[in-house]
Amino acid sequence: MSEKKSIHGHWSNAFVFVLAAVGSAVGLGNIWKFPYITGEYGGGAFVLIYLVCILLIGIPVMMAEIAIGRRGRQSPINTMRDLASEENKSPLWQYMGWGGVLAGFLILSYYSVIAGWTLSYVFKAASGTFDGADASLVGDVFANLTGNPEILTGWHTLFMVLTMMVVARGVRGGLEKAVTLLMPALFALLLVMVGYAANSGGFEEGLNFLFHIDFNEFFYACDVVDGAQRCEFTGTPLLTALGHAFFTLSLGMGAIMVYGSYMPKNYSITKATFIIAGADTVVALLAGMAIFPIVFANGLAPGSGPGLIFQTLPIAFGNMAGGQFFGTLFFILLAFAAWSSAISLVEPGVAWLVENKGYSRVKATTVIGVSCWILGLGTVFSFNLWSSADYQLFGKTLFDLLDYLTANIMLPLGGLLIAIFATWVMKKESISDELSMQSGFSLWYFVTRFITPVAIAIVFLNAIGVI
Ligand code: TRP
Repeated sequence: MSEKKSIHGHWSNAFVFVLAAVGSAVGLGNIWKFPYITGEYGGGAFVLIYLVCILLIGIPVMMAEIAIGRRGRQSPINTMRDLASEENKSPLWQYMGWGGVLAGFLILSYYSVIAGWTLSYVFKAASGTFDGADASLVGDVFANLTGNPEILTGWHTLFMVLTMMVVARGVRGGLEKAVTLLMPALFALLLVMVGYAANSGGFEEGLNFLFHIDFNEFFYACDVVDGAQRCEFTGTPLLTALGHAFFTLSLGMGAIMVYGSYMPKNYSITKATFIIAGADTVVALLAGMAIFPIVFANGLAPGSGPGLIFQTLPIAFGNMAGGQFFGTLFFILLAFAAWSSAISLVEPGVAWLVENKGYSRVKATTVIGVSCWILGLGTVFSFNLWSSADYQLFGKTLFDLLDYLTANIMLPLGGLLIAIFATWVMKKESISDELSMQSGFSLWYFVTRFITPVAIAIVFLNAIGVI
């Protein structure tokens, strides 16, 4: 078969693909979400299960997703349709692409709101709000921000506009430079934070929390109610760990697939995957090592939820030498990391509108951006106007529901279908040709064909109470 070309152009070289994919993977998932869900699910055991999911499920699925994208060279919807038809299989497979576009859309709607918090913290840090701050001041600052729908909407709007500006111009231009420079800077700054945490007085306790494995705590989610920590049995810790493995690696919805479709043929997918997954995991663990010592040193509750980093790191910045500078820089870099992730959430949808509807990139981006912004207001209100029980379903706010539906259900389901597609639907020669691995193909094939789907199925059955 002759090699296809993407109409959207290709990365200028293979390493740019790796950078862009790292930019997509490393984001709020690592620095905001990983610490707070680890806190809610009790620490070490959750971290262990998450790492096992990365290794046994995330890595094989990522290889499959990149390979499918590179073979199809189109938006995930068209790629799935055409690859299925090349293998004489059902055109229904294109609906997997549709599910992915929808998942990306739903995720971006709340991702943008949280990224907005980050933007607002850039200015708070720069103006010295956190100088000498203690836990109660930092807690108040956070509560004032999230309690104010107008201000949250303003930051959400700004983030959405910044994201759409790059997407409209094509993801390759600005992204390349930003990622090359800013990812290493973020990494270095996390090391500074871990250095601070090491001297904060809570380092041992923090590390112990992150790495001491206690399955008892894993099955009990903890919350702070009226200032006291309350733990309840939860049915979904395994599902949350699995869902997070997908979320943090940007898997299961076609983001990495569409990036793969711009990837040159001659670069090793295996190598790229290990770099992406490795960098992503290291950043998450560093974030945990920076945050939990501060949590314990200041008597905060690890399970305090989505505000965790915003209620801990400012204490560190407020009390360390050069904290105003480091704090400002940190939130700028985090906003950039969120931005390079957000771009990949809309790219599959934009690519499809351009391919099938003949939209210009600008028009496609505007349509998606505006609708996503509107849906994002639901997340804005989840923290204030709609935070009460009257506006909840199954005890969850709209934000919680969107997060649960996308990360815990849509992404693992997408991953399951990708694994099945690559190893049961595509002919063995097709996928082996695309992966062109020098060694290890049989191992990958075996894991992706049997272990990954079964593992995902077990976790789903566990979540609905069958196992
Ligand atoms: N991985 C990103 C993060 O950790 C979020 C993200 C970007 C994502 N693209 C995605 C999640 C696609 C799922 C699917 O912040």
